[in-house]
Amino acid sequence: MIIIGSDHTGIELKKSIIAHLKEKEIEVKDVTDFLDQTGDDYPDIAYIVCQNVKKENALGIAICGTGIGISIACNKVNGIRAAVCTDKYMAKMTRNDNNANVLCLGARLGIENVFEIVDEFLNSEFLGGRHQKRVDKIAKIEKCQKEGVEYVHSL
Ligand code: RB5
Repeated sequence: MIIIGSDHTGIELKKSIIAHLKEKEIEVKDVTDFLDQTGDDYPDIAYIVCQNVKKENALGIAICGTGIGISIACNKVNGIRAAVCTDKYMAKMTRNDNNANVLCLGARLGIENVFEIVDEFLNSEFLGGRHQKRVDKIAKIEKCQKEGVEYVHSL
């Protein structure tokens, strides 16, 4: 199951991605459809998407105008690794190396091959190995911040 949500800038893009995924028979849950007729702010959308990603242990897609604001907000949620991707390579590498669990897209960027980015993100795997310890360090920074203790880097 894929979780998807967007602010007011990305409603059309969100709907087109949902149609694309359904065509591929991929289950997709639109967690912000109740906001499609009203105004909304990307931090709220980010939070709703991320809570669902965690609850379902799924991958998510979060959309705002640039993808930047929503990625900043998503990355404030514990356990979320969100990445703005503007091409296929970024989408593949953020799964391979960072184990990103939320793909952030910019609806106002006019990206032509946006479905390719989505497909690459969903079809790529985390490679683990040497990347695992780096992702673990991200989690450790998060844990230290939560506990109000200093993160001790290893350099
Ligand atoms: C909304 O106008 C816009 O600021 C938002 O969609 C996003 O691009 C922020 O980063």
